[in-house]
Amino acid sequence: MKLIYRGAEAELWQEKYLDMPVVRKKRIEKPYKQPLLDQRLRTSRTRNEAKLLSTARKAVNTPHVYDIEETELLIEYIEGTRVKELFYQGKTEIAEKIGKEIRKLHELGLVHNDLTTSNMILSGKKLFFIDFGLGKKSEELEDRATDLVVFKKMLSSTHYDVFEKVWPRFLSGYKANNKILAKINDIEKRARYL
Ligand SMILES: Nc1ncnc2c1ncn2[C@@H]1O[C@H](COP(=O)(O)OP(=O)(O)OP(=O)(O)O)[C@@H](O)[C@H]1O
Ligand SMILES: [Mg+2]
Repeated sequence: MKLIYRGAEAELWQEKYLDMPVVRKKRIEKPYKQPLLDQRLRTSRTRNEAKLLSTARKAVNTPHVYDIEETELLIEYIEGTRVKELFYQGKTEIAEKIGKEIRKLHELGLVHNDLTTSNMILSGKKLFFIDFGLGKKSEELEDRATDLVVFKKMLSSTHYDVFEKVWPRFLSGYKANNKILAKINDIEKRARYL
């Protein structure tokens, strides 16, 4: 077992399962939280993530889920490069494809709710999406626009140097119409007055 990632929410371990490389995603305890509530929240996010990883596969590439136990998931290891590293290297060709894939996900009736470049892995020619713990079923314009605002915010902070290239290409891949563009503006305006 090898630790590949440690964040505020989760630890990711790389291991073998029936000879296949897999990752074990452990949602870790938050010491400052009420233990029972914390446990329930971690369990429900784990279940939600497993469910959505499977459902989302009808529209986009996601790793397979092999096992689920309370707060832990065993998922297929995706060999590749995160979009975060691609953008850091100035490689932005994937931008339009990201938009196209997110559109497919939304048309399937799901929103991701944590669209960041750490949650997208390019493996060969396939783009994989991970980290669905906050996702949900929704066909609401507001929820779809929020998904895009999260991505836009992340781009403008973490990837400000490629933002001007990536954002318009992403929108064109998504085939964003005036309705969703107006909604994005609304949400951003509201955020500024909060
Ligand atoms: N199936 C996978 N294959 C390969 N790498 C993975 C896989 N799942 C996760 N990773 C790696 O682990 C990192 C963290 O995983 P994930 O996004 O699921 O955790 P997280 O919920 O964001 O954790 P935190 O909220 O604590 O940051 C990813 O950015 C990616 O580098
Ligand atoms: Mg993540």
